[in-house]
Amino acid sequence: MKIAVSVKKTPTILQFDCYLCEIIMATITFKFEEKGKQPETHEIFQGESILDVALDNNIPLNHNCGGVCGCSTCHVYVETGEELFPEMSDREEEYVDRARDPKFNSRLACQCKLSKEGDMVVVIPDQSGIIGH
Ligand code: FES
Repeated sequence: MKIAVSVKKTPTILQFDCYLCEIIMATITFKFEEKGKQPETHEIFQGESILDVALDNNIPLNHNCGGVCGCSTCHVYVETGEELFPEMSDREEEYVDRARDPKFNSRLACQCKLSKEGDMVVVIPDQSGIIGH
């Protein structure tokens, strides 16, 4: 005697994490020391640096070493949102001290890579006359 056994397959639910859904995003408003330049606001994504966003949006910002923390020409002032970036390393601090007119909120734009959500305001120093390191 044969017995028919019906085996119902339970539907398989494929689950995967969409990496796009987990990307941290923020906005960055650039203000300029240079007279006559209006503020601009752009998106910044996790892992991107202030320098990346500036260059992607044709905002002039010197970067003589190419963004490897080997100069101080990408110096900026982070007015708000400094907590969205990792703390300053000793090496960055060393180069910030060499920047023109460093202040308490000085950072190197290439070293500020977004790690938390939020909004920030960054002031770009007048780029005319920035030479060397
Ligand atoms: S580009 Fe040289 S330290 Fe940022």
